[in-house]
Order: sequence, then structure tokens, then C-alpha cells
Amino acid sequence: MNHYIVTFSPTKTTLKVVEAIAKGMTEQYKLINITSLDQRKEPLKFEKNDVVIIGAPVYAGRLPVFVADFYKQFEGNGALAVPVVVYGNRHYDDALLELYNILKDTGFSIIGAGIFVGEHSYSKDLASMRPDASDLAIAYNFGKNISYIEKSLDIPGDQPYRAIVESLPIGPDTSDACVKCGVCYNVCPMDAINNENFLADENKCIKCHACVKSCPMEAKAFDHRLDPIRERLKTLCADRKEPILF
Ligand SMILES: Cc1cc2nc3c(=O)[nH]c(=O)nc-3n(C[C@H](O)[C@H](O)[C@H](O)COP(=O)(O)O)c2cc1C
Repeated sequence: MNHYIVTFSPTKTTLKVVEAIAKGMTEQYKLINITSLDQRKEPLKFEKNDVVIIGAPVYAGRLPVFVADFYKQFEGNGALAVPVVVYGNRHYDDALLELYNILKDTGFSIIGAGIFVGEHSYSKDLASMRPDASDLAIAYNFGKNISYIEKSLDIPGDQPYRAIVESLPIGPDTSDACVKCGVCYNVCPMDAINNENFLADENKCIKCHACVKSCPMEAKAFDHRLDPIRERLKTLCADRKEPILF
């Protein structure tokens, strides 16, 4: 039985959760990290004896559109799957239901599913430092105790799903602190950063904040343009929410 993780995770919270689940299940797994554009070039195929933990962050109550489109090309071939979404403590809305339905439609047998909380991409002050030790222990034990039997799960969410929110053409500013080290270029999942001047193309940017959170000089920021949203999120994300397991 081969275990795999497939995940998109620009600021690595989803990655931490799915890795904790995988470690609970097995000592050896293969990570297919589709945050990298190169890993999204070819559709993925699995076999009946494979076990695949499939992760995604929640973007505007749904899966990121291109992640959903990539996952729709899976060939599940009866492999066992564990869909997992990670949200920034506002709400997960229809994201897990969307992922669950895609995996069933592409030929996976679902053995469990999870909704976890991760620090919000937009700010270090929203769901700060999540997943924390408690979240990761829950994820690990979930993996450890999972039984490899197909289940029909009652996943929360509505159909039709929440309408897709068109992303505003906003990219991060780059301050004079930038030393052109190239970290932002390497972590950008959308190839939105120029590899000479390291400025962002706002038409390609998805506001995932990978560049903002990984810049060693704190030279990338969305500044005032996302401040109204951050302020609103402070109220909506105030109470600590806990993981939900299925
Ligand atoms: C464009 C965008 C939209 C988001 N929408 C939501 C949302 O609807 N609900 C929520 O709770 N968090 C939302 N978040 C926060 C992420 O789901 C959360 O921070 C997640 O942990 C990020 O995963 P990652 O670290 O794997 O990139 C959004 C983040 C981004 C970048």
C-alpha cells in the first residue's frame, strides 16, 4: 500500500496538517506538492492500493479555482482518499464538500475527511500560529486511527456552491528593503514574480501571501489595500474554531 500526499499550500499551513495526518498513518509517504507550478503540469493517476491525502486551503469559501480544475483531472482508479481543507478561522463554507465531490467523481473511495484551521494568509494576527500543537496532535491521531474502509460521509456545505468571487487585480508592493534574493520568485505558485526585478504581476497574483510570509527582509506587503478586509476578518475570525473530523 503506497501512501501519498497531494496538496496546494502557499503558506504551508495545509502542508503541516496533511503531513501530520500522513505521519499518523504511515512511516513512509510521498509528497506531491502542487504549490509548485511544475507539479501541476501533468494530471495525476493513482492505483487501487494507493492511499492519498488530498489537501487544499479554503479561498472565499471554495477551493482555489485552478486547484479544483487540477483535481478534476485526477484518475482515482479506486484509490483510497482523505480530503482535507484548511481555512483561516472565518469559515470553510463549501470547500470540503467541493473537494469530496471532485474526489468521488474522479474515482476515489473516501475513507475520512477533515477541516482544520490555519493562520490566515492575509495576516499573522488572524488564527495566529495555527495549526498549533493541539491541531497537529488531532491531525496525527486522526491519521493513526483511520480505518481503510470506504465511508459515505455527511459533509457540510451547500449546492450549488458559493459563487466564485472574482479576484481583484492586486499584487504585493515591494519595498526598498528587497535584496533581490529570489525567495519570492521561488515560492510564488503562479509565476507572478519577475526573476530580475522581483516585482509582482498583479494580474497573475492570487494573494496567497507566500511571498509576503517567506520574505526574509519583510519587503513584500499588500499594505493598505487589504486593510479593510483584515479589519472585517478580525471580528469574523475572533473566536477560536477547532478541527472537524469525518
Ligand atoms: C484569496 C484567499 C481567500 C481566502 N478565503 C478564506 C475563506 O473564505 N475563509 C477562511 O476562513 N479563510 C480564507 N483564507 C485563508 C486561508 O484559507 C488560510 O489562511 C489557509 O490556512 C491558508 O493555507 P496555506 O497556508 O496552505 O496557504 C483565504 C486566503 C486567501 C489567500
